[in-house]
Amino acid sequence: MKQKPIVIGVTGGSASGKTSVSRAIFDQFSGHSLLLLAQDAYYKKSDLPFEQRRKINYDNPLAFDTPLLHDQLEALIEGHAIDRPVYDYKIHNRAEEVVHMEPKDVIIVEGILILADEELRKLMDIKVYVDTDDDIRVIRRIRRDMRERGRSLDDIIDQYLKTVKPSYHQFIEPTKRYADIVVPEGGHNAVAIDLLTTKIRAILAARGLSE
Ligand code: ADP
Ligand code: C5P
Repeated sequence: MKQKPIVIGVTGGSASGKTSVSRAIFDQFSGHSLLLLAQDAYYKKSDLPFEQRRKINYDNPLAFDTPLLHDQLEALIEGHAIDRPVYDYKIHNRAEEVVHMEPKDVIIVEGILILADEELRKLMDIKVYVDTDDDIRVIRRIRRDMRERGRSLDDIIDQYLKTVKPSYHQFIEPTKRYADIVVPEGGHNAVAIDLLTTKIRAILAARGLSE
């Protein structure tokens, strides 16, 4: 019987470097069987008008369709393909299309609140928290949201002060206690990436999964 895939959870505040860490791990296994699953894809679909959708607290666990993420991750672990939703930040809503994903031997789940849910945590073999100072994260977020997510500076600052910052301290930062390792400096922390890669290779070998 085929062995269970390895699931690595990568979390941390917004713009902490979760995607960079996930990609750095991914690159170590280039050509091998890896899959990256972003929690952002599972923001809930909303029927509210755009003006109201803009004001939703997207840093609260209630903003996510966690049962769907859990079910799809479980399906992948059991060797089934999924059609994952797609999220469009520019319209604050789920897009029409879906992305078909085949199961892989290594699954990286990445997102701000993946460790907030006990059932999701149970599916993970390694839990990583990317720890980056708040001021650095805000600066990165301003740049990214203006360039890639179609936001104005005023809107970014307003959202940060109203919902992003308070929710980070209420919901995200407390999940650090569930992490197996805490990574400062994100994707540029070569030692942490190396340690994680070594551990993943050891689990792959122990489960008899090929790279
Ligand atoms: P997250 O997935 O946690 O939101 P990203 O990995 O997408 O964060 O990083 C957010 C932004 O910060 C990106 O524009 C990325 O290029 C930049 N960034 C990430 N890590 C670093 C780093 N160590 N040094 C400088 N910039 C970084
Ligand atoms: O990539 P990152 O981890 O920063 O993505 C999560 C962030 O996306 C959250 O902090 C949330 O405030 C933001 N978000 C947003 N607008 C949405 C959905 C999420 O600004 N419509």
